[in-house]
Amino acid sequence: MMDPRGLLATFRDYLAAMDAPEVRRFIAGFDLDLPSRQLAAADIPVIERLHSIETGRGDVLLESLLRYAPDLHWARTYTSADFGNHFLQNYGWVEMFGSRGHFVSDEMAGGFLVLGSGIDYPDHHHAAEEIYIPLTDGSLWSKDRGAFTGRNAGEVIHHPSGVNHAMKTKDRLLVALYLWRGGPLSEKPKFQGDTP
Ligand SMILES: [Fe+2]
Repeated sequence: MMDPRGLLATFRDYLAAMDAPEVRRFIAGFDLDLPSRQLAAADIPVIERLHSIETGRGDVLLESLLRYAPDLHWARTYTSADFGNHFLQNYGWVEMFGSRGHFVSDEMAGGFLVLGSGIDYPDHHHAAEEIYIPLTDGSLWSKDRGAFTGRNAGEVIHHPSGVNHAMKTKDRLLVALYLWRGGPLSEKPKFQGDTP
């Protein structure tokens, strides 16, 4: 069993090297030297898809995630009643730190989202402010009900509190780093048609 603190350190170094002002502001004053929470490894189907990733030079964080993946506590917010079984087989996340992740923080949550190819993650919103940084190329993102835009690894996508957003994958899977703060850290996102 690999200690996830090694992956946390790589996560921290990755963020520290980002120049984007949204990222600098988001993590300002936040110390990622956090107490650990003992979580057992938990497997979900989409993790099998990670084997298909070919990493290149500079993909240090992605390579680290692939090494640690079998020992992480993978989870899903939804059930097949939400978006069907295909979605459920091709979706998952792991919280590195936050209210339920491998490390304890009440202030910010952060981790990784994985979407298999050919997936629509429907338009949704939540109170927390959010940053996504894809670690793979070729996913499509919509913000505030705008047109879907292609995003590549290393781009910073910021969703202010309550702003609608949606993601799609085509022929490639998506792995993205995420950060949440300023709202309930384990809130289930809200979708059109949800009862308030
Ligand atoms: Fe979100």
